[in-house]
Amino acid sequence: MKRLKNKTVFITGGLSGIGKACAVAAAREGGNVVVGDIKSVNLDGAMKEIQAENESAVFFECDASDLSSISAAVDFATEKFKTLDVALNNAGVGGDNTSIAVMTEEDWNSVLRVNLTGVFYCMKKEIEVMATQKSGVVVNMASILGKVGFSGSSAYVAAKHGVLGLTKTAALEYATCGIRVNAISPGFINTPLLTKGGINGNDTAKQQIVSMHPINRLGKPEEIADAFIFLASAQSSFITGTTLDVDGGYLSR
Ligand SMILES: NC(=O)c1ccc[n+]([C@@H]2O[C@H](COP(=O)([O-])OP(=O)(O)OC[C@H]3O[C@@H](n4cnc5c(N)ncnc54)[C@H](O)[C@@H]3O)[C@@H](O)[C@H]2O)c1
Repeated sequence: MKRLKNKTVFITGGLSGIGKACAVAAAREGGNVVVGDIKSVNLDGAMKEIQAENESAVFFECDASDLSSISAAVDFATEKFKTLDVALNNAGVGGDNTSIAVMTEEDWNSVLRVNLTGVFYCMKKEIEVMATQKSGVVVNMASILGKVGFSGSSAYVAAKHGVLGLTKTAALEYATCGIRVNAISPGFINTPLLTKGGINGNDTAKQQIVSMHPINRLGKPEEIADAFIFLASAQSSFITGTTLDVDGGYLSR
């Protein structure tokens, strides 16, 4: 039994890493997937992978940090597939690795704009549509760094803590409207984000990160996708306002 059969599933940042794995899994579960992302070199290859699972999947170019752009993407999804059943707010950036005293205002704002304000913009538009339908599921991609600090990543850590606060508050506001809102907090997952952050490709840095996970390896994007499908489907019908840590034990140390 396909768990997202004929559901409209909107995923930001769905062309790479975790978002792409979630898009592939949602398509495999029968969902009509709308991938919202800034244009990237991954476009054709990623869409082919997703469409191989369900040919209805489509791409819509949008910027999660721009409310009008996100509104256009959600309007596109609902016009094309008639409903908005599941939204995964996953688009995110890593930011520079700098401590607070030397971090520029620009760096701070560039991370907060996508990783926190972007999630607010997405939820604002998605929940507006879902409230009219009186049904829907929102999943926000947070991080273990939404629960603990990490040197050199203050903007990222602050944004992810904020995402968990937004998740809990939206869950309370819309629990009686048929809308569930949850978050996933992944540990370090093997994606291009880690390469950009200088972790992949640097054996010492990578081993240090791996050793922080009791399972003693990085996570795989598909392992986050499994959690996403659970939270997106009726299997989690009594779960709202929570965070699912998928972290190889990182937060239990
Ligand atoms: N990789 C990890 O270790 C890890 C751990 C915890 C949480 N996360 C979170 O998971 C999410 C996905 O990360 P990933 O590792 O797959 O990264 P990634 O770099 O592989 O993918 C991120 C995607 O987001 C898109 N994106 C970036 N800015 C955007 C914007 N303004 N609008 C629309 N799309 C945008 C990119 O084009 C890309 O396709 C992020 O929110 C990240 O913070 C990642």
